[in-house]
Amino acid sequence: ELGDHPDHMAKEIGEQPEVVAALLDRVRRRTADGSTWVGLGLPPFDRLAVVACGTSLHAGQVIAGTLRTLGGVPTDIVVASEVDHVVLAPGTLVVAISQSGETADVLRALDRLDERHPVLALTNNVHSSLARRADAVLDCHAGPEVGVAATKTFTAQVLVGVTAVVSALVASGRLEASRAAALVDELAELPERMATAAAVAADRVPLLATTVRDAPGFLFLGRGPGLPYAAEGALKLEVLSYRWAEAYPAGELKHGPLALVDEGTPVVVVDHGDPRLQWAVAEVRARGGFVVTVGGEGTDLPALPRRTDAADLAWGRSTAPWGPIEAVVPLQMLARELALQLGCDVDKPRNLAKWVTVE
Ligand code: M6R
Repeated sequence: ELGDHPDHMAKEIGEQPEVVAALLDRVRRRTADGSTWVGLGLPPFDRLAVVACGTSLHAGQVIAGTLRTLGGVPTDIVVASEVDHVVLAPGTLVVAISQSGETADVLRALDRLDERHPVLALTNNVHSSLARRADAVLDCHAGPEVGVAATKTFTAQVLVGVTAVVSALVASGRLEASRAAALVDELAELPERMATAAAVAADRVPLLATTVRDAPGFLFLGRGPGLPYAAEGALKLEVLSYRWAEAYPAGELKHGPLALVDEGTPVVVVDHGDPRLQWAVAEVRARGGFVVTVGGEGTDLPALPRRTDAADLAWGRSTAPWGPIEAVVPLQMLARELALQLGCDVDKPRNLAKWVTVE
């Protein structure tokens, strides 16, 4: 089943371009005219609340950010295990995200939320408890994921979620169909970008991992739409390599985490083109920190092509409302390579299970 791949994680990272391409074939046309959303049969909503854990929560942050940016719709992010004191406003649609569909924290969270909120499930397992419990289901179609660390299911959740959000905005008249079509067209480049990002990372990541191998801890920084990817990069690195990793908004550096930065401290910066990130990079370098930038051309692990349209030059940043999806590939590869160099089992990290069925 592994074929030429050394482990399931390598196989599943490598499958991402084809997973994305197949998903886009499914959703492309129906997204831009709003019919994907209409087909779900959900009532109109004024707000959206994501309920999820771990990697699925990071995918939810991307999805919620897309809805806010494109449609100005308010969103809540609910860590499923922290649902007890959450109060959702009337008119909130709950989007429960779980690759397994069996995560106990997510299922219990839905039990505790007011029944009047409709639930949309985003899952890779349409026969799961979550799918049965939800009012509507979106299948992530990522195929089986064996590695405990979520990789291709994250990417599939993001893709299915952001295209659903675009469709919902068209269906509710908040987004022009032509703008939606242009956005979805842009996604068509994603499989190739992911494959390119993987090829570049395959070349550069081994040496980078060797350079940071003895570091006890890592910082991951991002800003705006880059932040969920920084959080995902940090989670992946600690799950696989058992090294501490913390993700922060880059602007928070000066409010605390900068104290951690010393000679050689590795700081991974998800650089989606916001010039304000350069401040963080300079502050870290000034203290001897080892910066690894992940993003556009000219970064250490380039995952985005150079943007040349006028708007981007004026703003100096990527305009994609879902941020640099491609960046997840080098981040996953860095975590895997570091883990391998440290002698860890990348398919079965210690203490963790693929399906977390206890609260
Ligand atoms: O099955 P789920 O998506 O609900 O799982 C949630 C988390 O346990 C999961 O995403 C976890 O954080 C990842 N496997 C870590 O790579």
